[in-house]
Amino acid sequence: MTEKPLSGHVALVTGASSGIGKATALACARAGATVVVNHLASDQQADEVVREIEVAGGRAAARAGDVSVEADVQAMMQWIVEHFGTLHVLVNNAGIQRDASFVDMQLKDWQKVIDVNLTGQFLCARAAAREFKRRGIDPKVSRAAGKIVCISSVHQAIPWARHVNYAASKGGVHMLMESLAQELAPERIRVNAVAPGAIRTPINRAAWDTPAAERDLEKLIPYGRIGGTEDVARAVLWLASDASDYVTGTTLVVDGGMMLYPGFRGHG
Ligand code: BGC
Repeated sequence: MTEKPLSGHVALVTGASSGIGKATALACARAGATVVVNHLASDQQADEVVREIEVAGGRAAARAGDVSVEADVQAMMQWIVEHFGTLHVLVNNAGIQRDASFVDMQLKDWQKVIDVNLTGQFLCARAAAREFKRRGIDPKVSRAAGKIVCISSVHQAIPWARHVNYAASKGGVHMLMESLAQELAPERIRVNAVAPGAIRTPINRAAWDTPAAERDLEKLIPYGRIGGTEDVARAVLWLASDASDYVTGTTLVVDGGMMLYPGFRGHG
């Protein structure tokens, strides 16, 4: 990859005030993009992400908006076009968990996870695709008219008891991404996914914040360590850049081998 593979790009990263979104926003800015750091209205941490980018010499702005609310997404896209002219990269990252055993799962917890993790990706991808089509290809910026990277999960394929809402949302993201990639390829819009495994972020703190929990989690990871957010950000950056120009409809799994059925080592 060139030194600044996203120079001239405007990139929107949803849910970018912490975790994988934050690391991705920082990586996109280091790669030369102007980054819109999306966050929920109540979230102050986004300003710190913007400051961190600016201190390092990059360009960024925070923008509040709930990805699951159509009017918020439309207003955010309009704001981006007004302030930065257009959009070249969408990283569909915002995601949540509301875990419960199946029989105890409340409809509101099912609905909220589907709304944010799946409908949110639909709304943002649709807004981005409309802007990519309106603008078309700008060869000074990229060979593609636009790039969408959906943050999925190993749970788009690995069933997950006590998290059926989350696993269903990520299974949905998988087919949303592939169907969109098929539909938008003739427009030179590339759509791909990154499927992280266990990454050390606030969403799964309980799974790693004691030595015993961490040891337990590592049994599921052949590579023997929990992932860092920068492991995921590097993969996102590659999919967002022209280095992957012939890649669309693909899921890049970043999981230290979690999807390799580690329970079968020495068994079966
Ligand atoms: C979930 C984490 C979990 C990881 C591996 C992710 O998608 O958000 O809570 O640790 O998958 O199971």
